[in-house]
Amino acid sequence: MRIAVCPGSFDPVTNGHLDVFVRAAALADEVVVAVLVNQTKQGLFSVEERIDLLREVVADYPTIRVDSFHGLLVDYCKANDISTIVKGLRAVSDFDYELQMAQMNYRLAEVETVFITTNPLYSFLSSSLVKEVAKFGGDVSGLVPDAVLKRLQQRLSATMDPQG
Ligand code: PNS
Repeated sequence: MRIAVCPGSFDPVTNGHLDVFVRAAALADEVVVAVLVNQTKQGLFSVEERIDLLREVVADYPTIRVDSFHGLLVDYCKANDISTIVKGLRAVSDFDYELQMAQMNYRLAEVETVFITTNPLYSFLSSSLVKEVAKFGGDVSGLVPDAVLKRLQQRLSATMDPQG
């Protein structure tokens, strides 16, 4: 069985991520969406919340499951019999860093990386931009799954400073 991993922070998952997961599922028998547990970086959503949202979003896809990992991605791959890392490439600006990571991951453990070119509908999209736009009242519907839109609105209205 060929298992692929889509790793990331997913704070929160966007429609661009979802597009990559679904397309990765066409290339592998099973896809694991793996959320990085990063103790030093506080997100808008906790890792548990991100996982819950991801599970809701991929619920209709039987070969996609959600997990979390910490430490090196290649160690997680080895421990879980994962042969391939799948990443989305939005633009040339992503390429330098992604190439570096892909080469390092191959050097460390001979884990291959496959790049999926992002759907142009989402090539400008990132979790941080979604959070920034939503924070200032911009409309991010259509850019994130409905479940995420709802949680974003709840979270941002709860944390909004009434003094502005
Ligand atoms: O969504 P992100 O934050 O761009 O995802 C980056 C991620 C999680 C894929 C990358 O930081 C990663 O793989 N981190 C795990 C630690 C690791 O293996 N570092 C060496 C990479 S060559």
